[in-house]
Amino acid sequence: MEGLVAKGLVKRIGVCNYNTALIHDLMTYATIKPSHLQVEAHPYLTQEKLLACANIYGIDVTAFSPLGAQSYFELNMAEAGESLLGAAPVMVAAQAHGKTPAQVLLRWGVQRGTSVIPKTTKPERMRENLTIDDFELSAVEMMAISSLNQNRRFNDPGVFTEAAFNTFHPIYD
Ligand SMILES: NC(=O)c1ccc[n+]([C@@H]2O[C@H](COP(=O)([O-])OP(=O)(O)OC[C@H]3O[C@@H](n4cnc5c(N)ncnc54)[C@H](OP(=O)(O)O)[C@@H]3O)[C@@H](O)[C@H]2O)c1
Repeated sequence: MEGLVAKGLVKRIGVCNYNTALIHDLMTYATIKPSHLQVEAHPYLTQEKLLACANIYGIDVTAFSPLGAQSYFELNMAEAGESLLGAAPVMVAAQAHGKTPAQVLLRWGVQRGTSVIPKTTKPERMRENLTIDDFELSAVEMMAISSLNQNRRFNDPGVFTEAAFNTFHPIYD
């Protein structure tokens, strides 16, 4: 990737699904610091230590699956009842601000300093997901939503990297 930057084919390098150990390791040999880290992050997987580590290195974090379980139901990777859209602190904040639970989840992600990349097949939800700049969650609301953390990872690449690389390759020990 650094070679591609040197050739002018790539502007910035991002890494994905890195834990803190991988970031520290990368920073011992990278000549071009990654500008971005993309990891799963939502109120059931708040990743505070990883965000703090990225912050120390000045690496911006993008949260994938910012709505939590939503995309994993159809893949049988989330249990019924794990939806964050019905979590009490999310619903309370949604009602207080006249917003949807999805908007509250995305706003929470942005307010804690991450980028969020929600995916939807529906234009009306795309509009909904883009309209999160006209309200602000209070510190109490942010804390209540963060306290939902269960370290629940819906998408562990270590599960499929063994088949992909033909070697035992867990990312999260
Ligand atoms: N780097 C990685 O390893 C990695 C891993 C996973 C995902 N990603 C990326 O992250 C992005 C999003 O991830 P994701 O699809 O897992 O999670 P997500 O955006 O949190 O959730 C998407 C799911 O939520 C639904 N949804 C979207 N907006 C909604 C709303 N306003 N209200 C209710 N439901 C809503 C969607 O259904 P509808 O389509 O029916 O609206 C879909 O089922 C994608 O671009 C994906 O490529 C990256």
